[in-house]
Amino acid sequence: MAIRKIVTLGSETLRKTSKPVREFDESLHALLDDMKNTMIERNGVGIAAVQVGVLRRAIVIELDEGEFLEVVNPQILKTKGKVKGSEGCLSVPGFYCDVERPKYVKVAAYDRNGQPFEFEAKDYIARCVCHEIDHLNGLLFVDYTDEGKKYKSEHGEV
Ligand code: NI
Repeated sequence: MAIRKIVTLGSETLRKTSKPVREFDESLHALLDDMKNTMIERNGVGIAAVQVGVLRRAIVIELDEGEFLEVVNPQILKTKGKVKGSEGCLSVPGFYCDVERPKYVKVAAYDRNGQPFEFEAKDYIARCVCHEIDHLNGLLFVDYTDEGKKYKSEHGEV
């Protein structure tokens, strides 16, 4: 297992759409392990593969202290409600702002072995899930607010 380098705001990689995972093999497992370790090392609560430069639809989220959820090829099935809350991102170090997200999400995904599963999340975890799924589509939390747009224009993005 290794700590990988985090891709930061200004890199075109972060704006690319990640491709579905097709092979649930050792390289996926190594990727997920490295993502988890990189996230822990950097004190993050969620990470998408694109943030370590791999354009595949895989994310890891910390559900609780030491408890992690691996989510491959996620599809949002349902959302409910809207709530504003503070967000940050390992790829946008030092910046935080309030973003509106669903209060509840239901997601279909695959685990690291290619087994399908569904899960529900609310409040803070729902926010994390939506933030990470955005990464797979080239979106960043700074895209949603005037404050965020100003920040990204000052930090390497047009
Ligand atoms: Ni992020």
